[in-house]
Amino acid sequence: MNHELIIILDFGGQYNQLIARRVRDLGVYCEVLSYETDLEEIKAKNPKGIIFTGGPSVVTDENAPRISKEIFEMGIPILGICYGVQLMAYLNGGVVEASEHREYGKTSLKVDSKNKLFDGVLEDTICFMSHTYYISKVPENFKVIATTEACPTAAICNEERNLYGVQFHPEVTHTTEGDKILSNFLYKICNCSGDWVMKDVANKIVESLKEKLDGKKVLCALSGGVDSTVAAIMVHRAIGKNLTCIYVDTGLMRLNESDEVEAMFSGYDLNFIRVDAGERFLSKLKNISDPETKRKIIGEEFIRVFEEEAKKIGTVDYLVQGTIYPDVIESGTKHSAVIKSHHNVGGLPDVVDFKEIVEPLRDLFKDEVRKVGLALDIPESLVFRQPFPGPGLAIRIIGDITEEKLEILRKTDYIFRDEIKNAGLDREIWQYFTVLTGLRSVGVMGDERTYGYTIALRGVNSVDAMSAEFARIPYDILEKISVRLVNEVRDVNRVVYDITSKPPSTIEWE
Ligand code: XMP
Repeated sequence: MNHELIIILDFGGQYNQLIARRVRDLGVYCEVLSYETDLEEIKAKNPKGIIFTGGPSVVTDENAPRISKEIFEMGIPILGICYGVQLMAYLNGGVVEASEHREYGKTSLKVDSKNKLFDGVLEDTICFMSHTYYISKVPENFKVIATTEACPTAAICNEERNLYGVQFHPEVTHTTEGDKILSNFLYKICNCSGDWVMKDVANKIVESLKEKLDGKKVLCALSGGVDSTVAAIMVHRAIGKNLTCIYVDTGLMRLNESDEVEAMFSGYDLNFIRVDAGERFLSKLKNISDPETKRKIIGEEFIRVFEEEAKKIGTVDYLVQGTIYPDVIESGTKHSAVIKSHHNVGGLPDVVDFKEIVEPLRDLFKDEVRKVGLALDIPESLVFRQPFPGPGLAIRIIGDITEEKLEILRKTDYIFRDEIKNAGLDREIWQYFTVLTGLRSVGVMGDERTYGYTIALRGVNSVDAMSAEFARIPYDILEKISVRLVNEVRDVNRVVYDITSKPPSTIEWE
């Protein structure tokens, strides 16, 4: 697919993904690349502009991340942000020094609104600053175009060479006119036209899939989650009946979930195979309590079921995966301890005989996938589905898994979701579900002693699941949920709310 491109060179700043989001929201496609990327590679991508991100280093340090000075000679407009502008100044002969006044947070900014970068921006505005070093001497042929009380070089530029830089962070919402500033860079300095519009993007992806896959046999492992669903529907648009989707019902799904997925796909002219493998999974999981063992068993069994089905179809040309952009950025850069073995229906390449993987969503962020999904008329109930783990309800039952416990968990999960929807919070809370704790406790109902299960409610807000905060659900809504759970689900006599964030907890209990 050919789009106008902005390259974001990553110098280790904490807001890099945010810069990418802003640029895309402003209608221009962008990619985040390491600062170590070869200049030839950058040139070959033919970007309309380059953004240097912030970063924790000091440009004068020996080991600071740098880039070849030649980048400034490529004739491509560059915007440096925070560390990025200091690097730009330093490499062009300016001086960067520790500042006497560290600036952090919302700061008054005076800009030269006659400059293209600040076109339409108020002369007295607010920016978000976070720096201890500053440019004490601007390079030759650069001029100052913004100041704060403590920073005489809050923005600089060399208009002839299209080099611009800001000490503050335009990508952070505290910079009240940050979007305007980024938009000026994209549209007035890089001369972008703004061709990253989700409806067009969806159509373009389908067109390119058509070209690539016409007449070929394609297989998709469908989880019912938003990524694999949108990926499958796009491929279906492109090649119709040549697509086969395999959906494995592990018996660990939520109430009516498998029927909903099947009903949705029955509206399309494709081969949909639903494998009801609940019994198989449950028998393998019998008497297993250890979380990692559960995960391993489920992952392996899933692959086995999938493999058996795929064999029936024979050789396929392509396997569809719902990989999205954050997966692409993160892969290969993470060196972390295994906290949980994640099971993903995407991870199947070894077991299917195919020639190539197609990943129609690998350029998109999650909310862009959702916009594309809506543009393709996929029902909102699927497009806005909250994340659901591959091992399903198995990792929300503490201890061994039985049909009876699954039944209790399905009902409680359904009621929790129903009440969150009734309260109008279903788009506000990122993920929410119930956990059947391994705990039984004493209660009293209708003058009788009970000895029932304790249900934990888990509700979190997060951006990328790497960290999460427990959701502040109002007490009266929690009360309503608690009353319904105990009244409507047999064997439940106590409800608790999980008020830990991640870290130190994780989102799921196992
Ligand atoms: P944790 O519990 O690690 O979960 O904080 C982070 C996010 O990932 C989801 N999750 C999974 N997703 N396969 C998946 O596809 C898995 O094995 C898996 N385990 C957890 C979890 O629901 C949360 O959104």
